[in-house]
Amino acid sequence: MQLKTSVAIAHSNIALCKYWGKLDTQRNLPAVPSLSLTLEALRTTTQVTFTPGLEQDELRLNGELAPPEATARVHELLERVRREASSTLYARVSSVNEFPTAAGLASSASGFAALALAARHAAGLDCALDRVSALARASSVSAARSLFGGFVTLEAGAEHAVPFTPGPAANELCMVVALTQRGSKAIGSTRGMLHTQETSPYYESWRATAPRLYAAQREQLAQGDLEALGASVEQSALMMHASMLAARPALIYFAPATLAAMQCVYELRRAGAFAYFTMDAGPHVKVLTLDAQRAAVAAALSAVPGVHQVIVSRPGPGARLVQS
Ligand code: DP6
Repeated sequence: MQLKTSVAIAHSNIALCKYWGKLDTQRNLPAVPSLSLTLEALRTTTQVTFTPGLEQDELRLNGELAPPEATARVHELLERVRREASSTLYARVSSVNEFPTAAGLASSASGFAALALAARHAAGLDCALDRVSALARASSVSAARSLFGGFVTLEAGAEHAVPFTPGPAANELCMVVALTQRGSKAIGSTRGMLHTQETSPYYESWRATAPRLYAAQREQLAQGDLEALGASVEQSALMMHASMLAARPALIYFAPATLAAMQCVYELRRAGAFAYFTMDAGPHVKVLTLDAQRAAVAAALSAVPGVHQVIVSRPGPGARLVQS
């Protein structure tokens, strides 16, 4: 095994058509297809060095030694790499989130995408993006999509994500993220979706309906029917949250400012703007809009009581290796 330090950058992605639920928990395969947009403004840089003499894998997050649960998930990915590379060397991993804020935006998608690429490269393994995407997916399904730039799809049961080429109208799309609460979320997405699968009477109808929304979104993006796309983006998020709300006990990720920001999006639309919301397993509101309207949408969201920061992002590129 070749010994070296590798550094990779990956950007976070936001699903327009949500993944929520596992087909296979052992292999971490998604139960529903998803479609996402990779975001320029949210990125992670990760450095990996397989080091002789280390007694365990070491993880630093933004310069600080990481808590054991985070290190355990990184260790699991590195074990897969070591098995494939027939190596026994532990690694030093350092990951830095270059997000405009440290508070409250999930970094697992960009984090596992950057880690998967840097680790395979440092171990001297093939870095074809479908291989790297499959490795990232085994740790966190949404991370599989962050290997690719722009619009990306991941089929139900698929090992890896694939890039999606939309019609030209989609080039104007961008995203405004409204942060509605400080601090990290109460229940992580893995636990949240398993709980939904196990206890929500609405999970089955979510699982059965999600593929139709996915097919519709692909078509809307290809045709450049952005209004119809916006409507399906909102429906995907709300259907996913409906399945969580019906779990027992209920999973409620919304904060008061989440609803206020959604209301703001409805008002923007009534005033003629192009703006459609989506929310993940957390309280923040991500708004799909057009380049030409992003300043106005960001200004309106900034004025919502409880919104403490707004991040505007263009679509971003896929993961890549950089010089260490
Ligand atoms: C709500 O990819 O974080 O953001 O595979 O268990 O790590 P695991 O889950 P994760 O779930 C993301 C769920 C979501 C929707 C999405 O990104 O598609």
